[in-house]
Formats: sequence, structure tokens, C-alpha cells
Amino acid sequence: MKRSIVIAGNWKMHKTNSEALQLANQIRMKTTDIQKTRMIICPPFTALSVVYEVIKDSAIHLGAQNMFWEKEGAYTGEISAGMLKSTGADYVIIGHSERRQYFGETDETVNKKVKAALENGLKPIICVGETLEQREENITIQVVGKQIRGAFADIAEEDMQNIIVAYEPIWAIGTGKTATPEQAEEVHAEIRKMVADLFNDTVAESLIIQYGGSVKPENAQSLLSQQDIDGALVGGACLKADSFSSIIHIAEELNK
Ligand code: PGA
Repeated sequence: MKRSIVIAGNWKMHKTNSEALQLANQIRMKTTDIQKTRMIICPPFTALSVVYEVIKDSAIHLGAQNMFWEKEGAYTGEISAGMLKSTGADYVIIGHSERRQYFGETDETVNKKVKAALENGLKPIICVGETLEQREENITIQVVGKQIRGAFADIAEEDMQNIIVAYEPIWAIGTGKTATPEQAEEVHAEIRKMVADLFNDTVAESLIIQYGGSVKPENAQSLLSQQDIDGALVGGACLKADSFSSIIHIAEELNK
């Protein structure tokens, strides 16, 4: 089965509102010819509405980088799924390794967030991935398996069409070290098998599994050409319209 490629840009904690406006505008202008590749940009919370105004009549989708699972209440500093939805966002990154590493997120909190996102009509991009030590200990598949089972606990089969998984080896994030296409493909194929075991082959075959970790125009083609790599979650290279749109154009060529 041919899955169409999905490219998402994770802006992380970058861009003031005026900078965000400028970047979103540039990305929009450079991607007007894109027809088959799904494009998602994930600015910080503060810029969501500003960016939405720029992209709402384009093919670019809006995503957030995190959310809290409660609907509303006394949770100072937190943002709910409903609030994100009201900005125009369709997607939300959940369980990014930086959230797990610096903000104490666990497989349980990831699962709660995934459920709350789905209930509010947001599509989660669930991040999984191993540390360098775990890779060297040869426990990558166990680590990723635990994250996948944790994230998908009690998720209904019909919700799976609204979920994206991003495999992001932590040692490759922001380091300039990319997993080789073969290293990434091996884990992607395993993730698909895990999902087939948890649900069934049809669900597994249609699941979009993105790769993330130092994706740039120079390595996008070899990564995206792999059988089980259906897209990229891009950090550093998405902060410049030129490099982000180059990656999108590489994906578009492969989508043909
Ligand atoms: P990077 O980040 O492309 O800068 O490595 C990817 C990510 O963290 O999603």
C-alpha cells in the first residue's frame, strides 16, 4: 500500500509572533505547488493564531507542540486540547523526547494526552525513540515497544487513522547525527509490526510513521525512500523556509 508522505515542522521554542508571521508566509509562498504531500507546521502556542491566519486558505495544516489532558480548570500555565482546536490547529505533537526528558512526561501522561487530543478532534503525532545508551545496549526495540504500547493503551481501532507516529532516536535530535536510512527503516518496520500485533494488519499498513532527527534537504530523499518511512518530523531545518520547503519538494517528488 502506498501511504502519502507527511512532513511536519516542529518549531520548538523559536519565533516571536512577528518572526512566526514572516516564516509562515515564506513557507506558504514556497509550497503553493504542493498537491500530494501533507504539510504541517507546529509553532509555539503563542504564535498559533497568528500563523493560522497566514495558512488557513493554503494546504498547510497547523499543529501544536504539546497540550494538557484536562478540559479546563486550575492548571496554571497549561493549555487544553479544546483551546488548541480553537486556534485552528488540527494536530498536536505528543511525548516529544524533550518533553519526556525535561518535563517529566511518561508513557502514562502521553496516553492521557493522546486520548484527550482524539476526543477533541486533534490528531496526535506521537513521538518515540531511544537514547544512545539504549541503542548501544541493543534495547532499542524494547524501549520503543514499551513507548508504543503505553501510548496506544485503550485507543480504539477507528481512532488509529487519526494518529501519526514519529520515530525520533534521541541521539539524532539536534545533533546533526542522522540515523542511516537502514537503521531508521529497521525500527519503522518493527513499529509497524507492533501496531499490527496491537490492532491488525490494515491499521498497521495505513499508519503514517515519520522519522525525526536531523532531517535536512541533503538526507531527506534517502530516508523518505524507505519502505516504512512515511514522512519526517523536522526540527532545525524547519526554521528556514528554504530548507523546509526543499524537504517538502523532495517528498512531493517521491509522492508522484
Ligand atoms: P531536529 O529535531 O530536526 O533538529 O533534529 C527533530 C525533532 O526534535 O523533532
